[in-house]
Amino acid sequence: MYLITGASSGLGAALSHEYAADGQQLYLTGRDEAKLSQVVDDVSRMNKGVTIQSKSAVLNDPSSVTALLDSLPHAPKTVIHCAGSGYFGALAEQTSEGIINLVNNNLTATLLLLSELVRRYQDEPTRVVIVLSTAALQAKAGESSYCAVKWAIKGLIESLRLELKGKPMSLIAVYPGGMATEFWQTSGKKLNTTGFMSAAEAASMIKQALLSSEHGYISDVTINRR
Ligand SMILES: NC(=O)c1ccc[n+]([C@@H]2O[C@H](COP(=O)([O-])OP(=O)(O)OC[C@H]3O[C@@H](n4cnc5c(N)ncnc54)[C@H](OP(=O)(O)O)[C@@H]3O)[C@@H](O)[C@H]2O)c1
Repeated sequence: MYLITGASSGLGAALSHEYAADGQQLYLTGRDEAKLSQVVDDVSRMNKGVTIQSKSAVLNDPSSVTALLDSLPHAPKTVIHCAGSGYFGALAEQTSEGIINLVNNNLTATLLLLSELVRRYQDEPTRVVIVLSTAALQAKAGESSYCAVKWAIKGLIESLRLELKGKPMSLIAVYPGGMATEFWQTSGKKLNTTGFMSAAEAASMIKQALLSSEHGYISDVTINRR
């Protein structure tokens, strides 16, 4: 079973289509129930016979994360954590509310989800794929708060890998460049995304990169924009 967060939109929704086309059992989650059920309907209609379950969850709320993982029928083979949000502009011009939301949707959500996943599944061969951004790899003016949360998640993953040494659970970091999704609209940044990757293109590359063998797996994936 594939547990996909952020499945109500963008990359998470596109990955849901990719894995449903492969006949994988899916468990999809997002915050907005209406958007999530629309994705479930679309994926089910296009992939008859695939088992898709869903539950909305607010991942920066500990009780919501617990309820989500309690509702899974069994340990997931793969978790793809796509949920996140953007907030851009010079730090001096950002509001405290916007900064707190950014930290909640990215860093707090990832910390709470990973801590619960590790508590429950560290002795299972569960792959946990975390979607960050190329903003976790390079400094960008006008993106300092976004870089801060994504760099923090990179530090979390790399440190947690050391804690999990010798355990069957694996952590995979994905660093995508710009994609044309709702992300830009909700982040409030006005941008022409014509030359950006579609979510479907990025999802297809991620799926190919996540192939693994008995003794090896790809641990870090960077997807640059042309
Ligand atoms: N788009 C880009 O250019 C780009 C580039 C690099 C990296 N990324 C990263 O890629 C990931 C996916 O982005 P996207 O482009 O697919 O964005 P998107 O279309 O805006 O989708 C974001 C998803 O995250 C969910 N979400 C946000 N905060 C949440 C929270 N606190 N709890 C639970 N769910 C939450 C949203 O749920 P609802 O919509 O249901 O509220 C939505 O499903 C994000 O981590 C983003 O930072 C994006």
